[in-house]
Amino acid sequence: MMKKKPAGVLMFLLVILKVLGTAEACRCTASGCFCIGRRLTSVPQDLPTTITELELGHNQITILSQSDFSRYRSLETLELNNHISTVNGQAFYHLSNLTTLRLSGNSLTILRPDMFVGLGNLEELWLDNNDISDIQAGTFNPTPQLRLLYLKYNKLTTLRSDMFTGLGNLERLSLENNDISTSDIQAGTFNTTPQLIYLYLYDNKLTILRSGMFTGLGNLQGLSLYSNEITDIQAGTFNPTSQLRMLDLYNNTLTHLRSDMFTGLGNLEYLHLGYNDITDIQAGTFDHTPQLKKLALYNNKLITLRSDMFTGLGKLGGAFFLRNNEISDIQAGTFNPTPQLRNLYLYNNKLTTLRSDMFTGLGNLERLRLYNNNISDIQAGTFNPTPQLEWLALFNNKLTSLRADMFTGLGNLEYLNLNNNDITDIQAGTFNSTPQLRYLYLYNNQIQTIPSNLLTNLMQLRELRLSNNNITTFPFEDL
Ligand SMILES: *[C@@H]1O[C@H](CO)[C@@H](O)[C@H](O)[C@H]1NC(C)=O
Ligand SMILES: *[C@@H]1O[C@H](CO)[C@@H](O)[C@H](O)[C@H]1NC(C)=O
Ligand SMILES: *[C@@H]1O[C@H](CO)[C@@H](O)[C@H](O)[C@H]1NC(C)=O
Ligand SMILES: *[C@@H]1O[C@H](CO)[C@@H](O)[C@H](O)[C@H]1NC(C)=O
Repeated sequence: MMKKKPAGVLMFLLVILKVLGTAEACRCTASGCFCIGRRLTSVPQDLPTTITELELGHNQITILSQSDFSRYRSLETLELNNHISTVNGQAFYHLSNLTTLRLSGNSLTILRPDMFVGLGNLEELWLDNNDISDIQAGTFNPTPQLRLLYLKYNKLTTLRSDMFTGLGNLERLSLENNDISTSDIQAGTFNTTPQLIYLYLYDNKLTILRSGMFTGLGNLQGLSLYSNEITDIQAGTFNPTSQLRMLDLYNNTLTHLRSDMFTGLGNLEYLHLGYNDITDIQAGTFDHTPQLKKLALYNNKLITLRSDMFTGLGKLGGAFFLRNNEISDIQAGTFNPTPQLRNLYLYNNKLTTLRSDMFTGLGNLERLRLYNNNISDIQAGTFNPTPQLEWLALFNNKLTSLRADMFTGLGNLEYLNLNNNDITDIQAGTFNSTPQLRYLYLYNNQIQTIPSNLLTNLMQLRELRLSNNNITTFPFEDL
């Protein structure tokens, strides 16, 4: 229910608005005026001069001049999403108390050093969704307090080292969705923004990350580089960004990871490398990222996982994404360096045989996804190294028979999904080692006979699915 304003207040407001002659265009409160979508072609000059907020979005203003705001010197927030193509020199000269300026969605093309003069207290500047192709040297010198600068969805192709001077307090710089290419980021571009915490460069045209690109970013914590065309990362590129926590390289075209690519990232916790074309990872690549907690390598072209690939990942805990590769082999000891891992995603690969040396080292693993592979055999003792496993998904594989030695070591397993295999035969004692099993799924197989003691040990079982089989002998009279 809408709250009804007392009639007295409404009358009072109407009187004020009438007196000021802005009843048509603006709705004013004690502190601000809201003139949104009123077909204004210029800034109204008859508003209370004491307002601290002015919203002029979605009008038809095309030019801003110094006289437009000279009456409103108390402004702290100004919203100007219009069709502005021209901002005359010193247009904001009198707005020394302004902290937020929104110029999103206009038609600005070039930013000049006389544009933001006077904005000594500005903290947030929104310039996204314009047609900005250049930022002249010194443009931001007048705005030393700026913390957030949004330049996404523009037409920048080049970043020069004189573009961001004056931004000594900047914490967040958004440059995503431009046309910035590698060769056009000058070395030292970010030397003038030492307080930057987040840098967004995704959806650009970067091809190579060069070692001089990120100098000066000693406080950076998040770097988004996804959906570029990055094929290589030069040695030492991240040496200047030792505080980085999150590095997102999703959807690029990296093919080989080298051990010198991630040096300097001693504090990195999250590394996203999904949707690249990675076929190989050099030994020791992750030795430089010992704090990594999450690693995404899904949708790549890995074929063999080697025992030297994941050294250094001793803190990897939450999840390790290896789904959608072409993995047909996992060498003995591959996961020995990742003892903290709890979730391992290996579905949509080409595994055929699970060997007893594949999952050694995974003493804390809780969930293992192996569905959509081509697994036809599981060697005795394969799961002995994973006693904490609660959840094992093996559906859509090629298993033909279940043996009593396949699931040993799984004393904590609660969920086992074997749907859509070619299982014809279940040996007696197959589930003797899994007394905690609650959910056992076996549908869409070709099981003919259920051994009479199948469930003897499964005191916790809540759900057993056996439909779509060829069962002729069914031993459970009690069910
Ligand atoms: C600017 O802000 C300061 C501090 O809040 C205040 O004292 C001053 O009156 C403001 N200036 C104007 C023109 O409102
Ligand atoms: C990858 O980025 C390209 C643009 O560079 C985009 O067109 C495509 O949709 C993205 N793909 C994914 C899977 O995000
Ligand atoms: C699965 O393995 C069989 C041989 O065991 C092979 O013929 C088949 O192509 C494999 N299928 C896939 C999808 O890899
Ligand atoms: C299972 O039964 C279907 C029809 O009910 C039959 O076509 C199929 O050959 C049987 N499979 C086995 C392994 O007996």
